[in-house]
Amino acid sequence: MYKVREITAAEAHSVRHPVLREGKPFESAIFPEDTIEDTFHVGVESNGEIVGTVTFIKNSEDVFKEANQYQLRGMAVLQKYQRKGLGELMVKKAESLMLQRGGAFIWLNAREVAVLFYKKIGYEKFGNSFNVPGIGPHFLMYKKM
Ligand SMILES: CC(C)(COP(=O)(O)OP(=O)(O)OC[C@H]1O[C@@H](n2cnc3c(N)ncnc32)[C@H](O)[C@@H]1OP(=O)(O)O)[C@@H](O)C(=O)NCCC(=O)NCCS
Repeated sequence: MYKVREITAAEAHSVRHPVLREGKPFESAIFPEDTIEDTFHVGVESNGEIVGTVTFIKNSEDVFKEANQYQLRGMAVLQKYQRKGLGELMVKKAESLMLQRGGAFIWLNAREVAVLFYKKIGYEKFGNSFNVPGIGPHFLMYKKM
């Protein structure tokens, strides 16, 4: 019923926009790194429709000293498909693809409302909350593989 697979940037945008940039221009859901070679996107398909997405970008955060860092971005599941385990499935698949590409460490800026989700799947908070203008409070989180 659900298929977790690598998806294109355009497929990622189709879910990222309504979930993460609702009411904002479609272009606000496009990241400059979306189409560079080291970036990859994982999604969940249900009856031919993409209903969830996450993007991994080869990018280092200076506060961490680990090598081979990836940034997790654009984590989104359409509302009616949330709390069905799909977010967790996508991140697990993306983590294994990242390991195949030589990645070893993942960091992200988590919306405060999503911190419990990331904790459940093995990510830890780093430091205090900070505000992202127009979006709200966030925490830096990370996972060493
Ligand atoms: C955050 C999000 C991606 C999680 O995806 P999901 O498919 O709903 O999450 P899962 O069903 O895989 O959740 C796995 C576990 O994480 C935890 N979890 C998930 N959402 C949670 C929530 N809102 N509150 C508390 N715990 C939560 C639970 O322990 C859950 O397991 P359980 O349902 O068996 O208790 C999704 O809810 C979403 O798109 N939210 C809106 C956009 C957003 O905030 N994205 C994150 C930006 S940083």
